[in-house]
Amino acid sequence: MNGRFDDHPFIRACRGLPHDRVPVWFMRQAGRSLPEYRAIRGTGTILDAIADPDLSTEITLQPVRRYGVDAAILYSDIVVPAHAVGFGLTVTPGVGPEVEHPFMSEADLERLRPLDPEADTPYVLETVRQLVAELDVPLIGFAGAPFTVASYLVEGRPSRDHLTTKSLMFANEPLWHALCDRLADMAITSLRSQIDNGASAVQLFDSWAGALSPAQYRRYVYPHSAKVMAGVADTGVPRIHFGVTTGELLPLMGEVGADVVGVDWRVPLASARERVAPGTSLQGNLDPTVAFAGADIACAAARAVLVDNAGHPGHIFNLGHGVMPATDPDVLTEVVKTVHEEGMVNAT
Ligand code: CP3
Repeated sequence: MNGRFDDHPFIRACRGLPHDRVPVWFMRQAGRSLPEYRAIRGTGTILDAIADPDLSTEITLQPVRRYGVDAAILYSDIVVPAHAVGFGLTVTPGVGPEVEHPFMSEADLERLRPLDPEADTPYVLETVRQLVAELDVPLIGFAGAPFTVASYLVEGRPSRDHLTTKSLMFANEPLWHALCDRLADMAITSLRSQIDNGASAVQLFDSWAGALSPAQYRRYVYPHSAKVMAGVADTGVPRIHFGVTTGELLPLMGEVGADVVGVDWRVPLASARERVAPGTSLQGNLDPTVAFAGADIACAAARAVLVDNAGHPGHIFNLGHGVMPATDPDVLTEVVKTVHEEGMVNAT
């Protein structure tokens, strides 16, 4: 089932194989930037919306219909598995994940029992199945990487400096590794269940890994993310690895075992390509804020990304981070058109 899209430009680009148009999708393509999302989202938390497969299916499909993007990404969240095993968290609108009793000690490991996707998140799997039945583009499944999920569980809320997380990491290394090992297992189980139900690719979100130096990353994060990537390798589906402000980490993030490495707007694609192993594809890297300058400027910036990529087949066009909620979706429609119409001009 997962091979159904083997000839699709998105999957071929993930594998660095030639194809006939530059594939494009946007992180956070579903969500508050779309009026059709705001119309059906309801007033509960996002966790309530995710627990409703019909609603989540529709929300996932909305940007695919509107933009004609080359991939859908499951409407869910990186904290869903921890929530589903009863860790005790919510996602507060306008804020993000919040934990009533943050992770602090050995005893808190018990609050992270193994995930049983069929029993704990049946709604996620039902959404995946409905999507796979409806979509004519590949579905990207995803999980949060151990570091980024741990940062929410330890801080208890979104944090700029990740001070509590890094303190735990430095001060109690065995507990840090025990926590991340549980989160790695949870990510593997979740990703495998999404793949088993038909997801054609997976993305591991380590959004906040850029808070670390390469030496810190190698010691505290690498083993756990590498375990996740190895844990899904046999499925054969492309694995995308993403973070923000990770310019210095790009070589390591590729080495972790990714087929595709996400690049934010701070590093030109040509430089990023020199930092990852040959054969690694890149995803990115339009600055999401250029959408606020209007379609002409956004499309010019999109062209600059294409020129920078110089026709390399291993490129999936995306933003350097997610669509911002106040984005005018019509600008993104124009960006998709530009990428599709002009993307191959630079191809070799
Ligand atoms: O990309 C997509 O369209 C797929 C859906 C998706 C969501 N979250 C939906 C969501 C994905 C892939 C995520 C992953 C996620 N969640 C990440 C990694 C990606 C990234 O942005 O770096 C992170 C860090 C989270 C944690 C999280 N969840 C945050 C920081 C927030 C924002 C809080 C807010 O309201 O601004 C959420 C909530 C969330 N997840 C929203 C959406 C559409 C917005 C809330 C809503 O509509 O109620």
